[in-house]
Amino acid sequence: MSVLICGSVAYDTIMVFKDRFKNHILPDKLHVLSVSFLVPEMRKEFGGCAGNIAYNLKLLGGDPLPMATVGRDFRRYGNWMDQWDIPRRHVTIVDDEFTAQAFITTDLADNQITAFHPGAMSYSHLNEVSEAEDVTIGIVSPDGRDGMIKHAEQFADADIPFIFDPSQGLPMFDAGDLTRFIDQATWVTVNDYEWELVTDHTGLSKSQVQERVEALIITKGAKGSEIHAKGKVYEIPAAKPAQTADPTGCGDAHRAGLLYGLINDMDWETTGRIASLMGAIKIESYGTQNHTFERDDFDLRFEESFGRTI
Ligand SMILES: Nc1ncnc2c1ncn2[C@@H]1O[C@H](COP(=O)(O)OP(=O)(O)OP(=O)(O)O)[C@@H](O)[C@H]1O
Ligand SMILES: [Mg+2]
Repeated sequence: MSVLICGSVAYDTIMVFKDRFKNHILPDKLHVLSVSFLVPEMRKEFGGCAGNIAYNLKLLGGDPLPMATVGRDFRRYGNWMDQWDIPRRHVTIVDDEFTAQAFITTDLADNQITAFHPGAMSYSHLNEVSEAEDVTIGIVSPDGRDGMIKHAEQFADADIPFIFDPSQGLPMFDAGDLTRFIDQATWVTVNDYEWELVTDHTGLSKSQVQERVEALIITKGAKGSEIHAKGKVYEIPAAKPAQTADPTGCGDAHRAGLLYGLINDMDWETTGRIASLMGAIKIESYGTQNHTFERDDFDLRFEESFGRTI
């Protein structure tokens, strides 16, 4: 029962500038901006939405099947996926391109300057959903624009239920695109900020989106999430993290929890809480694929967090 995870696979380079950008960017010189930040601290991480969701689903004991396009520099990431036994038969190498990569510089006030090179991700439409076998459900996460549109269409045509997860890809789509995605999808998930954009663009209310899908899931950071399904609203609490180190990738961890609950036919109260706990565990570590756990410990922590069993 594989979960086909369509989305980006990317390298993230994260650098920390031990000062504040505003001390170095002069407002009266913005027309000749030329700044260089010395960044003694630097990390290189495995990232991308499909990569992250697959990793988190694997931790839970699920069966992820990522579908993505990557570049000639994929080898290190490929070894990482092999180490975790995440299949990469639908991770296609585009020889002339680099794997998508983000260069993120953060200052001491948590401001960020990011450059994102899409590289091979722009070819994601070359992969087709029909190439994957034994797929029970899927997810369309941020990826090349054409890829997202095509994969959603292909899931719908093949009657494979899927989550539409636009995340940071949202600005690529207009009202028509978004309405079409919602009509094709079985479930839609966004964070509260993204929900404002979706409702603004499409004019659809929560209950109107909910009428078009099985469930609309809106995440709210430390406030947990709300799940709108079949005329009911489930308020799902957040789980308590031991520390909040790095919120990047909480959304992806959350989606892995949703997928896990869905493939195992769990109710929304349980599925939502599994997703919550995944987000809380993720926030305790830097990077998006550095947290680990044993499944028994996860189940125990679930009980401690929510006073119920999975
Ligand atoms: N500070 C926190 N404490 C506990 N749980 C959290 C916290 N932040 C996030 N989570 C969990 O992770 C889920 C997803 O987080 P959030 O709503 O911030 O997604 P997001 O904005 O899409 O994140 P991302 O930065 O990955 O794009 C939340 O619904 C919650 O369950
Ligand atoms: Mg997000």
